[in-house]
Amino acid sequence: MDSTEKKRNAAKASLEFIEPGIVLGIGTGSTVNELIEMLPTVRDRIDKLVSSSKASTEFLQQHGFDVSTLNEAGDVDLYIDGADEATKRLHLIKGGGGALTREKVLAGAARRFVCIVDETKLVGMLGSFPLPIEVLPMAQVFVAHKLLKLRAQPIWREGFVTDNGNHILDVHDLNISNPLEMETRLNQIPGVLTVGIFAHRPADVLLIADDTGVREMRD
Ligand code: 5RP
Repeated sequence: MDSTEKKRNAAKASLEFIEPGIVLGIGTGSTVNELIEMLPTVRDRIDKLVSSSKASTEFLQQHGFDVSTLNEAGDVDLYIDGADEATKRLHLIKGGGGALTREKVLAGAARRFVCIVDETKLVGMLGSFPLPIEVLPMAQVFVAHKLLKLRAQPIWREGFVTDNGNHILDVHDLNISNPLEMETRLNQIPGVLTVGIFAHRPADVLLIADDTGVREMRD
């Protein structure tokens, strides 16, 4: 089974969490795009939709959905999104697609966060995937120097501007043995908007697709 098929299976399994009358948050990325393609099959269950990126909003609109802002929608019942890495504690690295800030807002606003991945994303410890950090452009060099002091290697995602008009540093070789502590620590650096570690607000349910099917993990 190829990776697209696994992503599709994880996405399909998440449809079961979409209950009638729901305010649904939709994340960003190739796994979520598989979900968006299936979403018309449960259209009648969805009251309102909110999205974590311009790309997902556009794709949802192409599938005939109206997309509300979070301010219009109020509470989010369920947020479904992918991840770049996930642990069995349901801590995540997100932001490979650069949408981490709005993703963190929607995850934080949601009563339930279901994360959909294929088995390649499951890791023993976060950090092999370079950690995305969204930074204010004027603070980029300052933040990079702070990260160098942590013996990490920040690389500017050159030519990429987030939906919020900011820059991304992809941080290599960072020791994330304690995701909660590292998320808190990096959040203290002035100029950091969002850290791609999702530990303070982890997933509630992880749906992992492999060759044999989709298994569910909860903390
Ligand atoms: C975007 C993200 C995505 O969830 C993450 O990059 C996973 O993407 P994909 O489903 O394409 O592997 O955090 O900012």
